[in-house]
Amino acid sequence: MKNILVTGGAGYIGSHTAVELLESGYNVICIDNFSNSTEAVFENIQRITGKRFTWYEADVRDAVQLDSIMGAHHIDCVIHFAGYKAVGESVQKPLMYYQNNIDSTLILCERCLKHSINNIIFSSSATVYGRPQYLPLDEAHSLSATNPYGKCKLFIEHMLKDLHIAHSEMNIALLRYFNPVGAHSSYKLGESPRGIPNNLMPYVCQTALGIREKLHIFGNDYNTVDGTGVRDFIHVVDLAKGHVAAVQKMATDPGCVVYNLGTGNGISVLELVHAFEKVNGIEVPYVIAPRRSGDVAECWADPGAAKRELGWKAQLTVEDMVRDSWEAQKALGVHDILQSRQYTASV
Ligand code: NAD
Ligand code: WQD
Repeated sequence: MKNILVTGGAGYIGSHTAVELLESGYNVICIDNFSNSTEAVFENIQRITGKRFTWYEADVRDAVQLDSIMGAHHIDCVIHFAGYKAVGESVQKPLMYYQNNIDSTLILCERCLKHSINNIIFSSSATVYGRPQYLPLDEAHSLSATNPYGKCKLFIEHMLKDLHIAHSEMNIALLRYFNPVGAHSSYKLGESPRGIPNNLMPYVCQTALGIREKLHIFGNDYNTVDGTGVRDFIHVVDLAKGHVAAVQKMATDPGCVVYNLGTGNGISVLELVHAFEKVNGIEVPYVIAPRRSGDVAECWADPGAAKRELGWKAQLTVEDMVRDSWEAQKALGVHDILQSRQYTASV
């Protein structure tokens, strides 16, 4: 396993994964249509790693472009990150989500079959567990989805499992991410969502920076340690390393596998905000607001299967997460944030 095609390679998780792959000695070929990123991300990946790699401005839904890229490189494995990811937006614009997220995966799989690329790793999400029936969530937990974004993830998981059943030579890894935060320690990569952030950490960072007046904490009356929601926040660099471990496993132990990528530790929204304030020495003004529709009280992973079978375990701490998120946010600067595109810190 040498040549890895990374779709959505300029995005938040894809860019961090490209860095880890390059530093582990893989050849990386990235494609991205820059709908939520810019090509400056690729320049920064090269600066961080000191390694050149090939990238294409291409849409995964474009079979002709995929054929040409796959024909030009001997691809061993595809890691498929490309897609839209905002839950709220998926409720407002369901067809846009079904069109991009489902079509891209369908077309990618067809092209993989045509080019005999037998290894596919897919970015799934803890959202496929729906409302937790028990905690921690293991991979055997029942699956459900309540919004178009989650339904896409669930459907794609089924699609890829069916692909493996029909084509047993096709190896599949479904990686279910919990709540990725943090940034590469160079602070040349990071996360900057379009418009007003939906996710907690970008909102916390933008509030600390003064772009948002105050953080709204959605509910403090849950049956949790302090009444606020509890999540399994995982550093994006740990998450990226989980992909390298999945590539290594596929090379030696093929099949169709599903792994949670989380830390196994739940922490509350307030605990995260207080850690951010303490580690970074900056106040985050907040108010308690009503619960957000669709939120679950608590959600954290049992990452035991990934540890046993991939030899992977998250290493970085909550302190690392809040420090790196903040440092990367500061490096990004207010102007670029207001440009509302993916991270493009100047170096
Ligand atoms: P991101 O938006 O930062 O990255 C996705 C990248 O894909 C972007 O650079 C975008 O320009 C590109 N893209 C979108 N549609 C494309 C297409 N049709 N062709 C080519 N490129 C396209 O998102 P992310 O946070 O890096 O997430 C990556 C994957 O992980 C997504 O599939 C997402 O659903 C999944 N995921 C993310 C989270 C999270 O909280 N960030 C959690 C669980 C799962
Ligand atoms: C975390 C906690 C909020 C914002 C989502 C997707 C999931 C996955 C990760 C892609 C909750 C609270 C948040 C704010 C707040 N993405 N919060 N004020 O909802 O756990 O997961 O992102 O796959 O599919 O659903 O993450 O960061 O939005 O929220 O109080 O301004 O922070 O209520 O308790 P979530 P989140």
